[in-house]
Amino acid sequence: MAQKIIFTDTPARALTEQLDELGCKGALTIITDSNTRRDCLPLISGDSRIDGAGVIELEPGDDNKSLTSLSEIWNYLCCHGATRHSVIVNLGGGMITDIGGFAAATFKRGVRFINVPTSLLAAIDAAVGGKTGINFNGLKNEIGSFAPACSVIVSSAFYGTLPRTELLSGYGEVLKHALLDSPEALGQALEFDLSEADPALLSGILENSVGVKRRIVAEDPFEHGLRRSLNLGHTAAHAFESLAMEAGRTEPHGIAVAHGIVVDLVLSHLNLGFPSDTLQAVASFVRENYPAPAFDCKDYPRLIEFMQHDKKNTSPDAINFTLLRKPGDVQTDCIVSPEQIKVAFDIARDLLGV
Ligand code: GLY
Repeated sequence: MAQKIIFTDTPARALTEQLDELGCKGALTIITDSNTRRDCLPLISGDSRIDGAGVIELEPGDDNKSLTSLSEIWNYLCCHGATRHSVIVNLGGGMITDIGGFAAATFKRGVRFINVPTSLLAAIDAAVGGKTGINFNGLKNEIGSFAPACSVIVSSAFYGTLPRTELLSGYGEVLKHALLDSPEALGQALEFDLSEADPALLSGILENSVGVKRRIVAEDPFEHGLRRSLNLGHTAAHAFESLAMEAGRTEPHGIAVAHGIVVDLVLSHLNLGFPSDTLQAVASFVRENYPAPAFDCKDYPRLIEFMQHDKKNTSPDAINFTLLRKPGDVQTDCIVSPEQIKVAFDIARDLLGV
């Protein structure tokens, strides 16, 4: 799954070049949400194909990554004469790149699309690697397909003035990629000052981080093996997100991932001898920069129930984790018992100062 990823300060110019490369003469549709239409569409304007494009504007929020919104997109494409030669530009966060990619992959058995991720989290994860889909029957990403964008335009122009929560959320995935990559990448990620967030340094870290995901996806595009390593931190993170949802709170994905990484590194230490000084260093970084996780021992049984329903499991009795022997040395498909997960929660809460 070769995917072109362009890092640029000038997203409008990069998009013009990509449209030229695709031979796109004007049959263009932009899928966006009301926030990104207001804040980000002006940053890609200037080309007559963009300025004259049809715009499908969805309501923001993951709830709208739904069959209803998908049907709205298909309907628009049908009514506006889109053909197999049309091009779609997905301009937004992960919600837009997921549903826009799936709409493009399924309309007339597939039209070409370009992703322009406008959140740090989407640039690092969702927009890259070809996973597309919608939520269905209350389950996240239940229906979807692997369909790579022709290109992904990653631009610091969109991440210049990030709200802190968005920065932290994106950085959760940066930590994950650094841990999967090497001790050096992890060292660099832990040195970054999140309270200052120097844009030039962040751009460099972003480029390296996306590079890690690109390499993994290139080797295992359909997640038969190595790509499962990208689930590091996610078994616990999805449970934290589900617990928050049940309590009527939203937990930004990458913040849950940062907490989930600490749980997974504790399990890595217990099962695979992951070095305790590195575990302490990552946990200190998360404790100093991130809000404390909102769970205590009364929540353990419910968190474990959520984990038992995780898509990655082969049976409800076998909770599946991606663990590490050391940074850059990954072991996928590790089965961990509920008893040991409770121990890991205790240790992780202690490390995170909860
Ligand atoms: N977000 C994990 C993956 O793309 O495989």
